[in-house]
Amino acid sequence: MKIFSVYNIKGGVGKTTSSVNLAYLSAAAGAQTLIWDLDPQGGTSYYLCVKPKIKGGSEELLQSKARTLAQLRMTGYPNLDLLPSDISYRNLDNQLAKSSKPLLGLERLVAPLAKQYDHMFVDCPPGLSLVIENVFQMTDVLLVPMIPTPLSLRAYNRLVQFLVKRRTKKLRVLPFFNMVNMDKPIHRVVTKNISEKHPIFLRNGVPESTLIEAMGVKRSPIFTYARESAEADSLRVLWQEILERSPG
Ligand SMILES: Nc1ncnc2c1ncn2[C@@H]1O[C@H](COP(=O)(O)OP(=O)(O)OP(=O)(O)O)[C@@H](O)[C@H]1O
Ligand SMILES: [Mg+2]
Repeated sequence: MKIFSVYNIKGGVGKTTSSVNLAYLSAAAGAQTLIWDLDPQGGTSYYLCVKPKIKGGSEELLQSKARTLAQLRMTGYPNLDLLPSDISYRNLDNQLAKSSKPLLGLERLVAPLAKQYDHMFVDCPPGLSLVIENVFQMTDVLLVPMIPTPLSLRAYNRLVQFLVKRRTKKLRVLPFFNMVNMDKPIHRVVTKNISEKHPIFLRNGVPESTLIEAMGVKRSPIFTYARESAEADSLRVLWQEILERSPG
């Protein structure tokens, strides 16, 4: 199982939207795919029309491997399952801190899922908490959606510094731009500078679009109501590039 975590220190940059759309594409191509809504806000669970509820909450989830399997939900889309959000995830930091291996709690929790799934997506909450350090430990590919502004770049550089210090061994970091609006001079300048100086950034990004925003009303991935759109195509090309740039 390859774990793709969708993460940025910053909030509101498109982590949830990207998680849902990319997981849908993975599943539609035939890969057994799981998406974990790790954010107590429950945005992914909302988009996929699944109740944001874990029986016994995060405490039980951390304690029992068997329970993880029992909490999985079907989404109605072929090959795509969900491990839902729960409001108790807000306590995960404290619960992990109290455990015998604070950095490995989430890795242990997802280990039994490896037999069942080819790809797992993790929709992360923003911030840089112990939960996120756990995510770094278990992740193969860290997808970092960013709005192309100088402040976003600053936040990204801080993340990279943190990862270098931590020497997170197997992690491949793949940043990409979301909500790109080339009518805005600042977006043109930042995307140009990045493509010239930072080859680590993915070449393909996702435009700012009312069709993508409409996911909140439609409660479904964009491909279900605008499959022929340029936005849907941009996500397909992005997913292809992610697969090409992901290790093994
Ligand atoms: N490409 C896009 N074009 C237009 N709007 C977008 C796009 N991507 C995301 N949005 C909108 O931006 C808002 C934030 O998106 P989203 O919830 O995916 O961000 P997030 O990083 O998960 O936020 P949080 O940090 O709160 O979890 C939402 O209203 C969403 O509809
Ligand atoms: Mg989110």
